[in-house]
Amino acid sequence: MARGRFITLEGGEGSGKSTQGRLLADAIGGRGHEVVLTREPGGTAGAEAIRGLLVTGDTARWAPWSEALLMTAARVDHVARVIRPALARGAMVICDRYVDSTRAYQGAGHGLDDAALTRLHDDAVGLWPDLTLVFRLDAEAGLARARQRGGAEARFEGFAGDFHARIAAFFAGLPGREPARCRAIDASGSVADVHARIMAAL
Ligand code: TMP
Repeated sequence: MARGRFITLEGGEGSGKSTQGRLLADAIGGRGHEVVLTREPGGTAGAEAIRGLLVTGDTARWAPWSEALLMTAARVDHVARVIRPALARGAMVICDRYVDSTRAYQGAGHGLDDAALTRLHDDAVGLWPDLTLVFRLDAEAGLARARQRGGAEARFEGFAGDFHARIAAFFAGLPGREPARCRAIDASGSVADVHARIMAAL
């Protein structure tokens, strides 16, 4: 059986990725294709435990490299136990955030070197998506949406606005820098509008 396709959804806070991931999984699953919808940090018991360390508590809880290494530790487990086996049996994998979030948040946001993060990914994980949809939404609007949602997983929302502005700038430039893999998706407007743009991009 041919290897399945690996699609990642990326963007800043509150860009509607998770809702769109579910709609996309339903649309593809409805055509009789096996779809695995998953997320990062998380997707396995071990990686979800690491997620708890990362997304809760004080912003000062972790140094940037601790964050990057914890994200990567979770990703290694997730890729080995869930993503690679699914692709090997021909399933389509849709992942809500992946390595570009590490490059955006720990790289552009916290100032870690992108080449170092990319090398770490190549060495420790070694799997890049076939297609990355980069959700484009004004950082302030997205943050407001995410903060309104509330909940315990608010650690990254607590970083100052310029952190989120650097992340937004990274994502805005990504499809232009890596056009073979990445497509920009305008995430403004209704859920149905955004879903239609995604289906068109596929
Ligand atoms: P979520 O809110 O989209 O589920 O993601 C959890 C948070 O983790 C979000 O604020 C982005 C952050 N994050 C990183 O900082 N680096 C990463 O590599 C990933 C996957 C997520």
